[in-house]
Amino acid sequence: MNHTPQTAIIPDHCTAGIFIEADIVRPQAVQTAVRTALNALKRLQNQFPDNRLGMSIGFGADFWHSLNRPAEGAELKNFTPLGNGLAPATQHDLLIHIQSLNHDNNYTLAQAVLDAFGDALVVRSEEHGFRRHQERGLDGFIDGTENPQETDDIRTVGVIGGDAPDAGGSYAVVQKYRHDLHQWNGFDLAQQEEAVGRSKADDIEFEGEQLHPEAHIARVNLKENGVGLKIVRRSLPFGKVSGEHGLMFIAYCARLHNIEQQLLSMFGDSADQRTDLLLHRLTRAVSGAYYFVPSVERLHNLQN
Ligand code: HEM
Repeated sequence: MNHTPQTAIIPDHCTAGIFIEADIVRPQAVQTAVRTALNALKRLQNQFPDNRLGMSIGFGADFWHSLNRPAEGAELKNFTPLGNGLAPATQHDLLIHIQSLNHDNNYTLAQAVLDAFGDALVVRSEEHGFRRHQERGLDGFIDGTENPQETDDIRTVGVIGGDAPDAGGSYAVVQKYRHDLHQWNGFDLAQQEEAVGRSKADDIEFEGEQLHPEAHIARVNLKENGVGLKIVRRSLPFGKVSGEHGLMFIAYCARLHNIEQQLLSMFGDSADQRTDLLLHRLTRAVSGAYYFVPSVERLHNLQN
C-alpha cells in the first residue's frame, strides 16, 4: 500500500488557509463524504495546478478510536487543558485544514467539503488565515524561519514513515491564539524581542545569555537525548482589525510527543515550570485540539 501524506502538510509558504473544526453527528455518512471531498480537491487541483491547493482531514480521538484501528494513530488522545487552564481544551471530532496560494480556491473547496458532509457534522469553528509581508505575524515578527525547509526533512519530521501500519499519517494540533496587540505595542522593541528570542527586523536568533529562559524559542526549541524535537508548523495570522485576531496555530508531526512537550514547556507544565513570555505579553490560547491525519489511502478506506 502507498503511504501518501495528505496535501496540506508538506507544502510550505502558502498564502491563505481555512481552518474548520466540527463534530460528527452521523458517523455512518463520513466515509462517503470524505471520498466526495477528496474528489473535489482533485478537481480543483487539476483546474488550478499552480495554486498549491492542499487539504488535510483529521479526526479527534473519539471518532478515530471508534474505527477500531489501535495500531494506527496510537498516540492520539483528546487535548486536555494545560497550565491551569491557560491553554483551554476544545476538542472536536473533525479537522478540515485547507491551504493554497489563493483564498478563492480555498473557499470553493471548503464549500464543497461542507456540502459533502451536509448534516453529518456540526461546524464548531471556522477561521480564515492570510499571509503577511515577509511572512510576519500580526506581532511583526517573522514566523516560520526554523520550520523544516527541505522536502525530505519536512516529510521525516511531519509524517509517520517506514513500515508502520499508519505510515503516511501525521498528528496535528490546532490552537487559536487571540492577540492583544494594544498591550503588545505597549512593550518596547527590546521587550518584544526578549519575548520572542529573536530580533524583529532581521530575525536573528538570540543565544547564550541574550536568550531569556522564558523567551518563546527557548520554550519550544527542545532536545531529548541530544535530538531536536521538531515539528512542522503551518500557522497563519487570522481575524478582523476591529475584532478578534491573532494566530491560527497548526502543526503536524510524526509524533504527538514532540508537539506535547513543546506545549508543556510553553504553558508552565514542564520540569522548570516556566511560562512562555508571549503568553504574558502578546497572546492567549482560546482553543486547543489534537487530531490524527491519516494517509490519503487510509482516508479512502476508513472502515476496512
Ligand atoms: C518559532 C511565533 C506558538 C513552536 C517561532 C518564531 C516566532 C513564533 C516569531 C520564531 C521564528 C521561527 O522559527 O518560526 C509564535 C506565536 C505563537 C506561537 C506568535 C502563538 C501565538 C507556538 C506553539 C508552538 C510553537 C503553540 C508549539 C506547540 C515553535 C517552534 C519554533 C517556533 C518549534 C522554532 C523554534 C526553533 O527551533 O528556533 N514561533 N509561535 N509556537 N515556534 Fe512559535
